[in-house]
Amino acid sequence: AIQRTFSIIKPDATRRNLTGAINAKIEAAGLRIVAQKRIHMTPAQAGQFYAVHKERPFYGELCEFMASAPVVVQVLEGENAIAKYREVMGATDPAAADAGTIRKEFALSKGENSVHGSDAPETAAEEIAYFFAGIELVG
Ligand code: CMP
Repeated sequence: AIQRTFSIIKPDATRRNLTGAINAKIEAAGLRIVAQKRIHMTPAQAGQFYAVHKERPFYGELCEFMASAPVVVQVLEGENAIAKYREVMGATDPAAADAGTIRKEFALSKGENSVHGSDAPETAAEEIAYFFAGIELVG
């Protein structure tokens, strides 16, 4: 089925001018970028986004990192978009990611791993609603 997923191009990637290269991989996979904007989060905004990871040892570091530079937040649409984007991203740890994936090519570490993608339809809907109004999604 046609789905929407939520994506973030993270600070390590925007700092290195990789937005276009990452978008090229997204589009080559058949995913359409139906909304996109560049924002600079506060640590509190990043903390709310990642609230599900509050108890993890890396939570503080994760929130500081996500607020350390601008990010590009996106909504991607396509057949099986959630699973497809996770394939295009590759494993969380770039050392474990498959060849050709965004994280294999661009990520620096488990934390500075260039992109985020939703893991399920419910989280995709929540994450999209956190950053975008319906009127901003343009199929
Ligand atoms: P993301 O998909 O954005 O969701 C949670 C993030 O936590 C994950 O990507 C990683 O960037 C980050 N993360 C996971 N494991 C670690 C770790 N061991 N150290 C730092 N950050 C991590």
